[in-house]
Amino acid sequence: MSSVNIDSLIAEAQTFAPNSKEELEQFRIRFLGKKGVLTDLFAKMKEVAPEERKSFGQQVNTLKVTAEERLNHFKETFESAEIGNKSEGDLTLPSDPSPLGSFHPLSIVRRKIISIFSRIGFNVSDGPEIEDDWHNFSALNFPPEHPARDMQDTFFINLNPDQEKYNGSLALRTHTSSIQVRVMENQAPPIRTICPGRVYRNEAISARAHCFFHQVEGFYIDENVSFADLKQTLLYFSQEMFGADTKIRLRPSYFPFTEPSAEMDISCTICKGKGCNICKYTGWVEILGCGMIDPAVLENNKIDPTKYSGFAFGMGIERITMLKYSIKDLRIFSENDVRFLDQFKGVR
Ligand code: PHE
Repeated sequence: MSSVNIDSLIAEAQTFAPNSKEELEQFRIRFLGKKGVLTDLFAKMKEVAPEERKSFGQQVNTLKVTAEERLNHFKETFESAEIGNKSEGDLTLPSDPSPLGSFHPLSIVRRKIISIFSRIGFNVSDGPEIEDDWHNFSALNFPPEHPARDMQDTFFINLNPDQEKYNGSLALRTHTSSIQVRVMENQAPPIRTICPGRVYRNEAISARAHCFFHQVEGFYIDENVSFADLKQTLLYFSQEMFGADTKIRLRPSYFPFTEPSAEMDISCTICKGKGCNICKYTGWVEILGCGMIDPAVLENNKIDPTKYSGFAFGMGIERITMLKYSIKDLRIFSENDVRFLDQFKGVR
């Protein structure tokens, strides 16, 4: 065999790069096997002319070393790849289930309220959380000196920080009744809508009060809307939300924007009216304020009070949620404690 042939064998071994263990094994058999190229070449050593024998031997040796190096290198590569594959486990197994979150209980109840009212023709309206005095107070018939405007209750927004005293233009809305005004400005009766949203009051945080919470406002304006319509609507809502055996009771109350006004209680969901510490042993719990929309409010919003009348109500979503799920502390709603939230998994 000529040295040229050995050179090309060396080049072949040097550039050999197998794709599989089988290809590597074929390489081993071809070069280093018992009947392989190298065995052949060593056998031929005797036939080589004595003056060429030294360089022939060196070339054969280079080929042997190259082939062995190549073999060992790829053996290791394949072995470590196999170990790597093993540590990845069985790639055909189904993956771990990804942990699913839950709806927040306040979202669950808000969605439920929307769904209950949508079944009797109420749509959903929205308004800004930063409101002006007109929408939050004046258009709703709050007299200028009404205590609800007080700094104690309302978070005012001071647009001019150089001015120490509040300049009277903007505040965080204190109730969703501001959305009544927004809707009346933009729509002509008949109007039948509910308005869920977040509201803010400057109150000390405790188990029963927070500086922000959620309300759903609802109102209906048309010809001949009566207090009986209000009562029946609220009875329907209460029984859909808390069960068919739920009773309601209306107590006279006062709001500047409704006349007459009332507060509504439902029979206690915990003790079913027998008396417990949630209902303070009265059998009743208050859940909302309501009334017939004051004609002055309709007039403020350019709706003719001689032609139209309406009712309105406003409820706290936290309150409803606490009664529905027996939650005793309001603060837990805004703490994002997964142990609390996990209990609502799967509830919509
Ligand atoms: N806005 C009142 C509140 O926040 C609730 C209410 C709404 C009362 C609509 C009557 C009519 O307390």
